[in-house]
Amino acid sequence: MPGELAPLAQAFFASAPELSLQALGSGVHVPSLDLAPYGIPVTHLLAEHNAELARQYLTLNQLAFGGIGVPRWVLSDLYLLPGAIGLLRCPARLLKAPARERLLLADEELAIGAACYVAPSLTPGLFVGVSLFSFLPGRGASAWVKLLTLGMVRAKRLRGITQWDNPAVRVHSRLGPMRLVGRVPGGHDYDERTFVYETDLRDEARVAQAMLRGDAPAPATRIPVTDLLSLGALLDRAEGGARLELVPPGQDDGHVLVRELPPG
Ligand SMILES: CC(C)(COP(=O)(O)OP(=O)(O)OC[C@H]1O[C@@H](n2cnc3c(N)ncnc32)[C@H](O)[C@@H]1OP(=O)(O)O)[C@@H](O)C(=O)NCCC(=O)NCCS
Repeated sequence: MPGELAPLAQAFFASAPELSLQALGSGVHVPSLDLAPYGIPVTHLLAEHNAELARQYLTLNQLAFGGIGVPRWVLSDLYLLPGAIGLLRCPARLLKAPARERLLLADEELAIGAACYVAPSLTPGLFVGVSLFSFLPGRGASAWVKLLTLGMVRAKRLRGITQWDNPAVRVHSRLGPMRLVGRVPGGHDYDERTFVYETDLRDEARVAQAMLRGDAPAPATRIPVTDLLSLGALLDRAEGGARLELVPPGQDDGHVLVRELPPG
């Protein structure tokens, strides 16, 4: 039975007919993937035979993340061998300028417009958000490529890492409330403003509401993204078992929106 997300996904692609959904990964995993997440067909491209596309991904990832962009061996060993990257492809002319200039493609050549990689973890159903980027601003492209990639790998829950002040918080909260987990295991280059969150994807109706920003705004405490003392204290409490979450839209005018749930 089609769920609540299929019509939204179809509406997204109807509004952007130049976009298509693809996956790049090792052939061995193809039978494990859902190649029609929320009814959207995915063309799977074998990473073994598409080195040029892998190189394009590498270039754009390094452009999006600067100094912490993915090294080539990590792309092979930890992205393409164990999993598959979800890609929104589009004509190169649609890309934001730095990406268009870097790729040197003709206007109508197919380029990666947005991409998401989530890594499998030891816990069944739990995936780890590793790399999300978009060079197609203003269309919700990164929220869609993230959701469709998670559907493709059949994720039930996601743990991700982000920064309080990263505009991506608004994107991540499109998939629902972001439960605060704590600090990054092993530390992070941007440790003082970085945290781990978890999104539960099991309730499709709830995810659909969040994608639409259809929920009435939940009562939330607003904390400036620069108040690292208060935000660090929140992480201490989350690590101690408090049920804290960022409520959609996650971030507003330089603040994060935090709610505490009763113990449960
Ligand atoms: C974060 C990123 C993925 C968003 O890409 P996108 O989906 O094309 O961005 P959009 O233009 O659709 O905007 C997405 C949301 O962010 C908000 N946003 C975008 N730029 C913003 C900015 N500079 N300041 C505040 N909010 C911003 C938009 O208002 C939108 O919010 P809404 O969905 O509630 O309306 C993209 O900027 C990127 O690739 N950044 C570099 C890599 C990165 O940081 N990835 C995330 C790692 S956690």
